[in-house]
Amino acid sequence: SLEQFHISEDYGFILPEPLRDLPVYYKPWMDIARNVPELISSHSLRLRIHDVLPRSLSVPFSEVSQRLGLPPILIHADTVLANWKKRDPDGPFSMENLDLLLTLPGGESVRGFFLVTLLVELAAVPGLKSILDVINGVQYNDVAMVTKALDVVGQAIDSMTKAFKLMHEYVDPSKFYGIMRIYLSGWKDNPLMPEGLVYEGVQEKPMEFSGGSAAQSSILHCFDELLRVQHEGSSGAFLRRMRDYMPPSHKQFIETISSRPSLHSFVLQQADEHLTHTFEQCVARLVDFRNYHIIIVTRYITIPASRAKQLRANKQGLAEELDAIRSAPTALEERGTGGSGIMTFLKTVRDETKDTSISQC
Ligand code: HEM
Ligand code: ALA
Repeated sequence: SLEQFHISEDYGFILPEPLRDLPVYYKPWMDIARNVPELISSHSLRLRIHDVLPRSLSVPFSEVSQRLGLPPILIHADTVLANWKKRDPDGPFSMENLDLLLTLPGGESVRGFFLVTLLVELAAVPGLKSILDVINGVQYNDVAMVTKALDVVGQAIDSMTKAFKLMHEYVDPSKFYGIMRIYLSGWKDNPLMPEGLVYEGVQEKPMEFSGGSAAQSSILHCFDELLRVQHEGSSGAFLRRMRDYMPPSHKQFIETISSRPSLHSFVLQQADEHLTHTFEQCVARLVDFRNYHIIIVTRYITIPASRAKQLRANKQGLAEELDAIRSAPTALEERGTGGSGIMTFLKTVRDETKDTSISQC
């Protein structure tokens, strides 16, 4: 059942009731966590946190992370899955009625970015539940059951793409590009911190960890395994590595899907018109989702990055918005916050999704 993988019937991978506070002993941490944007804009964060992660933070952070089976760095689960509350507890799961528990610099755009991503996760839930029906249907040779459940998966992917469109309304590209990405990036595959970060009292040698990215969302990994999308080469390796940045039970769920008899082979063997059509539609919708993601990345990264290059040549004073774009770290022009080569990576992953189509066989 989904429960054994810590997946909620109502919320999927989302944590149903994120803890809002820690016991008073941890107040010094919460005081910093609740004020990150203010501490940064008043240039006083460095008075409290140093380049070397001090032992008072690195030791408990590493121990808590180890106990959770997670790397000691900000991940998708921290910023999205466990970082939300309803304003009115009886109200709907909507942008108007949701808030973040903890935020980062970038104002309303941070709220928009994490909450829209949360709504994409939520839109996936019916599809997530149907994965088990697809798997069981394949096991029992039940074509009708597989077809029906697969149709729900396809519809869920479609509604994820629809939810994704809210990004335009809630996230400002210059805030995202110029400010937010800095705080999501990590210390692996990052030319700004080529050695990694020293976790004082944990290990003398610096340690490398990838920054936060929705590549760490379990949803797409589940659908890819279900449809047997093959990710190879360096992009496949990157995606596999991202699974170590997921809650372990969610990673196990992905592995369980991949260990079950192949839906792809079942569809080929059955050669049932309706089933084949439903499978093809599901693949097509996954390709559409990834194409839409590429459009978003063009608006939020590619265009601001080329703008930044132009602006760096220009020495005049600039409007605040353009200044943010110009002063974004050049290291993040070519790299995603997760450390991938962005477009080459995303297009490879998209094309590998297309290759899963039966008509390609
Ligand atoms: C990967 C950007 C929103 C899902 C990536 C990558 C970038 C990126 C640059 C490459 C990996 C890296 O190095 O980080 C963006 C931007 C977004 C956005 C600019 C919005 C402004 C989302 C949302 C989702 C999502 C809402 C939904 C869950 C993914 C997935 C991958 C990925 C699944 C891995 C590649 C794949 O499986 O196709 N994203 N992302 N992204 N992102 Fe996003
Ligand atoms: N992964 C997203 C980026 O690279 C957040 O900007």
